[in-house]
Amino acid sequence: MTMKYAFPKEFWWGSASSAPQTEGENLSFGKSATTWDHWFEQEPNRFHGNVGPQQTSTFYQHWREDIALLKQLNHNTFRTSISWARLIPAGRGEVNAEAVTFYNQVIDEMLAQGVQPFINLFHFDMPMVMQELGGWENRDVVQAYGEFAATCFDLFGDRVKHWFTFNEPVVPVEGGYLYDFHYPNVVDFKRAATVAYHTMLAHALAVKAYRERQQGGEIGIILNLTPSYPRSQHPADIKAANIADLMFNRSFLDPALRGEYPQELVELLREQGQLPDCRPGDAELLQQGVVDLLGINYYQPRRIQCRDSLVNPESPMMPEWFFSSYEMPGRKMNPHRGWEIYEKGIYDILTNLRENYGNPRCFISENGMGVENELRFDQGGQINDEYRIDFVREHLKWLHRALQEGSGCLGYHMWTFIDCWSWMNAYKNRYGFVQLDLATQKRTVKKSGEWFARVASHHGFD
Ligand code: BG6
Repeated sequence: MTMKYAFPKEFWWGSASSAPQTEGENLSFGKSATTWDHWFEQEPNRFHGNVGPQQTSTFYQHWREDIALLKQLNHNTFRTSISWARLIPAGRGEVNAEAVTFYNQVIDEMLAQGVQPFINLFHFDMPMVMQELGGWENRDVVQAYGEFAATCFDLFGDRVKHWFTFNEPVVPVEGGYLYDFHYPNVVDFKRAATVAYHTMLAHALAVKAYRERQQGGEIGIILNLTPSYPRSQHPADIKAANIADLMFNRSFLDPALRGEYPQELVELLREQGQLPDCRPGDAELLQQGVVDLLGINYYQPRRIQCRDSLVNPESPMMPEWFFSSYEMPGRKMNPHRGWEIYEKGIYDILTNLRENYGNPRCFISENGMGVENELRFDQGGQINDEYRIDFVREHLKWLHRALQEGSGCLGYHMWTFIDCWSWMNAYKNRYGFVQLDLATQKRTVKKSGEWFARVASHHGFD
């Protein structure tokens, strides 16, 4: 019997996590501090419940049991990241042997359990020693990242066949250099533009290093794409939505898929005197950064209207000089995270990629729903998270439709596997297929985890 929503047999079913959010043992086993450790030490009050990056979910100890759970949930693929600060504690140079052992064990165990490792190289976790040099503002750090990436390929590339250079590279730009939710808490558009630009140079260096090694796998980047919907078809709203799209989506999507920046974005930044320092050789390098595979993180749309007030000429330049956000009446919300839920967005992203970017190899690398106080939904010792099942099912229906229309989407990964530490929100909202008891570190599969395991083994659902 065919299922109403049948997916290809080889479709990737899995979930995603990251080193800084799950490993724990932050300042032990040779690992050096990241910007998160430093910031938490300075301002613990900025983190929900004063819970910092050192209290993450003990994957460093429990990797074997956690990988067994991946298999139990019928994952054929799983993404995590390698921590730069753990592998190369000084940022450059000597490799930490304990880290090599740890990551080798994780990779080997995943493969032994039939779970393909998808490995990302940077998930917001700048080593503090590199940040002290200026982080992504400094081209030496770009070079150091290229060396770190090459080291990872040399150490693990014989077994890892799906690599990613960055997760959501726009987020450290927004958080660290515009909106004050990541260290170093700078508010400065030009520095933000520099960080964004240098990140893509670093990305291209890593892609180049990977290709030079000819290891028979593929390399990509993971972008959080937020489709920009104008409030109306009024030309002013459309223009505003287009600028938001250029700044938040195409600023990374175009270099990743086309090897160059959109001319409209370059012109806008030039007019405003905000262009970063572009040097000879950069354009050629960027062209080498065109990816084999695009990961798409999709959580929420961006609804935009034109501004209806003048900008304070003394305020620092912000993307919002050119548009305002629009709260569509009747929008469906996840009140815990404050994000709109709009399932069709996943279809719109895939359609845009198919129509305007040559239908690249891609997959949904994150989608998910953070909910506060999930213990409310405990039924006989298990979290009955029907809302999460609905969330995933409705997104998968739109993904299925995109596939029927010819999208090159190859899989769906959930954020996340086991409840994990979420940056400033710490453990406020839970996202996992598996519940984490913070006191005991016990893992218990939620209803959504069981549901997903069935969908993965049946290659779909009705
Ligand atoms: C993505 C990130 O932005 O969304 C994850 O890749 C993050 O690291 C997830 O945890 C959920 O967002 P948040 O801010 O609620 O943790």
